[in-house]
This record gives sequence, C-alpha cells and structure tokens, in this order.
Amino acid sequence: MNQIDLAGQIAVVTGGAQGIGFAIAQRLLASGASVSLWDLDAQRLEKAREELGASASTVKVDVTEYGGVAAATAEVEATFGCIDILVHSAGIAGRNAPLDEYDLEEWHRVIEVDLNGAFYVNRAVLQGMKARNYGRTVNIASIAGKEGNPNAPAYARGQSRSHWHDQGSR
Ligand SMILES: NC(=O)c1ccc[n+]([C@@H]2O[C@H](COP(=O)([O-])OP(=O)(O)OC[C@H]3O[C@@H](n4cnc5c(N)ncnc54)[C@H](O)[C@@H]3O)[C@@H](O)[C@H]2O)c1
Repeated sequence: MNQIDLAGQIAVVTGGAQGIGFAIAQRLLASGASVSLWDLDAQRLEKAREELGASASTVKVDVTEYGGVAAATAEVEATFGCIDILVHSAGIAGRNAPLDEYDLEEWHRVIEVDLNGAFYVNRAVLQGMKARNYGRTVNIASIAGKEGNPNAPAYARGQSRSHWHDQGSR
C-alpha cells in the first residue's frame, strides 16, 4: 500500500462517518495523522470512531449551518492546535427527476449541502490555514458536476465544485 508520512498532522474529514470519507479517514490514520470526523449522523459517527480507534475523534456537524461549522473548526483548533488537512466529502445525491419537474425544496436541499456546505467548510477552515501559512484541502466532487447526469439537475450543479487548494509549504 502506498503510504505518505502524515505523523503529527491534524486532519478533518467531513462526511467521515461512512462511505468515501470513512475510507479516506482510514488511510489518513494509517499514514499517522489524527483525524476529526465531522458528520450529521451521530450514530454512525460513534460507530466509526469505535472502529477507527484512539486517533480518531468526532464532531456532530451539519455542513449547511455556518455557525456549527465555525464552532467545529474552533473546537478542533482548540483541542489539537491546528487543522493541517481538510477532506470535504459530505454530500448527497438527492432525488432524480427531469429538470422541469424537479421539486423546488429538493433542489434547495441538494444545493445547500453540496454547494453551500462546501463553501462554508472551506471558508471556516481556510482562515486558520492561512494564518498558519500551511494547509491542504481536498474537495470530493463528482464527474456528474463536470459531465452532467440525466435527471440529476440539482446534484450536477451542486457537485460542479472540484478543486485542489494548497496553502503554503512546510
Ligand atoms: N459514491 C459514489 O459513487 C460517488 C461518486 C462521485 C462522487 N461522490 C461524492 O462523494 C461524496 C461522498 O460520497 P459517499 O458515497 O461517501 O456518500 P455517503 O452517503 O456514503 O456518505 C456521505 C456522508 O455525508 C454525511 N452528510 C450528508 N449530509 C450532511 C450534512 N448536511 N452535514 C454533515 N454531513 C453530512 C452523511 O451522513 C454521510 O455519512 C459525496 O459528495 C458524493 O456526492 C460519490
């Protein structure tokens, strides 16, 4: 298995209670990082923490609430001193329907999580990274955001947000 040395680094993984986020958390931990899992689902968070062991901690966060995201950022920075790595994986697909029939509430729900949530998490965490002149962020998006998926107008718009960002060097 390829492994890079992340000993001493503090990572936040949103959507880390399951799926891609959980798998990334496993790899970060295997590389020596400490990982804070942020997720909406408290039960799955607890299960994930038990499975991942002592270097994993959890914060229940809804990425659509900027106040909660800012508070989680402050909590991790106060506990560990910094956030070196952000992996933003929280996301939802939403229901499928043709655009002209797409439910307005569902549209707003998907945009709120996939687009605004990505902005909120990156905005909050980036501030400390800039102040410390170091950070690495990875935003998990979808090919649907680039190519478009039939009957997924909200998901395709919300996921068109993939980028890498580096802040400084160590
Ligand atoms: N699975 C795939 O095939 C695939 C393909 C391309 C892109 N993606 C994208 O990758 C990301 C992760 O996908 P996954 O398959 O691991 O999904 P998943 O459903 O397995 O996990 C997503 C996690 O995000 C959490 N979450 C959802 N809304 C949240 C919110 N408002 N606040 C905090 N946490 C929230 C969920 O509780 C869940 O634990 C998503 O953005 C998804 O769209 C997935």
